[in-house]
Amino acid sequence: MTTAAMVAEFGDFADWTADAVEQLGTGHAIPAACRGSSSPGALAWLAEACELAPGNTLLDVGAGVGGPAAWAAERFGVRPILVEPMLPACRAAARLFGLPVVTADGGRLPLRSGSVDVGWCLGVLCTVEDKAALLDEMHRVLKPGASLGLLVVVSRALQRLPAPEGNHFPTQREVAGLLANAGFRLLEQIPRPSAAPLSWSRRVEQVAAAVAAKHEGDEAYGLAARQTERLGRLLSARQVSIQLMHAVAAS
Ligand SMILES: C[S@@+](CC[C@H](N)C(=O)[O-])C[C@H]1O[C@@H](n2cnc3c(N)ncnc32)[C@H](O)[C@@H]1O
Repeated sequence: MTTAAMVAEFGDFADWTADAVEQLGTGHAIPAACRGSSSPGALAWLAEACELAPGNTLLDVGAGVGGPAAWAAERFGVRPILVEPMLPACRAAARLFGLPVVTADGGRLPLRSGSVDVGWCLGVLCTVEDKAALLDEMHRVLKPGASLGLLVVVSRALQRLPAPEGNHFPTQREVAGLLANAGFRLLEQIPRPSAAPLSWSRRVEQVAAAVAAKHEGDEAYGLAARQTERLGRLLSARQVSIQLMHAVAAS
């Protein structure tokens, strides 16, 4: 179920981010538009694990504002296809990067079977109730043997603090089971390297400050901020952790 807080976080914030980037300059676009992954170290690990190569189609499901896919296109020459259910996020990704974006749910991908070279799904599984449907669809559209890069917020079994609204964090065991049932083999996993260089985090902060200056009094701003705070508390208390995973589609 999509809650008001999720609409604020993934919808309103997407529009506001695109506005702020247009004000500050295009150099701010990629760092500001990486809403789930945010660290260039994490993106580099995923890109190398998936052996991205020029001309590969990279399907990013739950692409948000498109920062990770734009980063991969710039650094590795891949051809991204973005799928994202929130219209404002699709609009923002098209505005900032001019990438092809399809407004759709990850559980019903409007793509041909076996047509995609590499799939990414970053910070999305925890926001989706039917995780199995999304992973089944990703398996269907990927070529046999293709790589899937995931960033997943994984819950420890004992999670006591409140989660951001609409989030259902899977345990490690659940993720492993979901991947296996969808036909993926989990090859490798590491905790997300979170530190970003100042050159990156400074741009993220400048965009955040521009958004706050304009929207801090809006109800949607408060709802989205509460989502971020809740996730931050869970991470600080080590009740969840952010994991990078590399799986391959077994044929
Ligand atoms: C934390 S954001 C991550 C965005 C992006 N992947 C990134 O790393 O910057 C989660 C995204 O998943 C999207 N999402 C939620 N439910 C989805 C679904 N059923 N299918 C595909 N995407 C979904 C949200 O709209 C949101 O843009």
